[in-house]
Amino acid sequence: MKQKRVLSGVQPTGALHLGNWLGAIKNWVDLQHQHDTFFCVVDLHAITVPQDVKTLSENTLSTAAMYIACGIDPKKSSIFIQSHISAHCELCWILNCLTPINWMERMIQFKEKALKQGDNVSIGLFDYPVLMAADILLYQPDLVPVGEDQKQHLELARNIAQQRINSRFGKDKENLLKIPDALIMKQGAKVMSLNDGRNKMSKSDPNANSRITLLDPPDLILKKIKKAKTDQFIGLEFNNPDRPEADNLLNIYSILSNKSKEASYEECKEMGWGMFKPLLAELVIDSLKPIQSQYKELMDDKEGLGNIIKSGNEKANEISSLTLQKIKDAIGLINKL
Ligand code: ADP
Ligand code: TRP
Repeated sequence: MKQKRVLSGVQPTGALHLGNWLGAIKNWVDLQHQHDTFFCVVDLHAITVPQDVKTLSENTLSTAAMYIACGIDPKKSSIFIQSHISAHCELCWILNCLTPINWMERMIQFKEKALKQGDNVSIGLFDYPVLMAADILLYQPDLVPVGEDQKQHLELARNIAQQRINSRFGKDKENLLKIPDALIMKQGAKVMSLNDGRNKMSKSDPNANSRITLLDPPDLILKKIKKAKTDQFIGLEFNNPDRPEADNLLNIYSILSNKSKEASYEECKEMGWGMFKPLLAELVIDSLKPIQSQYKELMDDKEGLGNIIKSGNEKANEISSLTLQKIKDAIGLINKL
């Protein structure tokens, strides 16, 4: 039976952190065994807000290396860079011309991000969801693993594909584009900030102590966990609405130790913070060690890394150019003469 196709991506906007790993990339690693998987570094999305030139190029390469260090196997998955595949921008333009502005005005993430940008809001930021629709629809995937915050963008991609492409341009009920399903990551894998258990851990949090990046050295991990917000209670527990920090740290402990929630609770329910924090720090350090050493190997062999990306790009190009041509034909853009 043909494997279902999966496509997802992360923006190269900073060092990946525990949340990106446990909430996104770890799921991709599991998916690659039984699916036809494509993972993209979405650098064109990153430039929808201002980026430092040198940092962006470094982050793009390091994000690709981190995918592999976390377990994405280049023999099973195609790893590619969004800006290397010109079909993304081409399809984005076509979709722009077919997407009503009032669909876009409903996008919650745009409103949130635009507020942060003040006077400096680009058209690209407004158009971000259409580019994401192009990213997705070009590959005709069955499933798109995304976090809860991306659900609305995926719904937009589905609506554009169905209402603006398939039903307008598909002859004889032909589906020009596949309507993909969102694969919303398990709630349990949402990692919260170390400073505030009610906010998610994020690359864009100005306080670097709020997150553990996958490249943090052991002493920094210990320091960050020791500094993490706590409360006056003794004993770790889940699901106490007054103790979001306890829930978050115990959740990280449970995921990284591969112990069930029940077993983790039993083990830690009487521990004070002073005992639990070093235990958690050691576990995080040990869990990141293999990732960090593989990352270093990859970054020390830029040629090897470049070859992996080249071969991912080739596969991505093959598939996306077919879809783009199909759409161009369907809407009346003539082929080269
Ligand atoms: P960030 O907010 O850190 O910039 P992104 O928005 O780029 O992260 O998200 C990249 C991927 O990582 C998405 O699939 C998102 O759902 C996932 N992700 C981001 N932060 C977390 C978190 N704290 N917990 C779980 N998953 C997360
Ligand atoms: N917007 C997504 C995020 O911030 C990243 C993204 C861009 C993406 N294009 C995509 C995710 C296509 C899945 C599929 O997480």
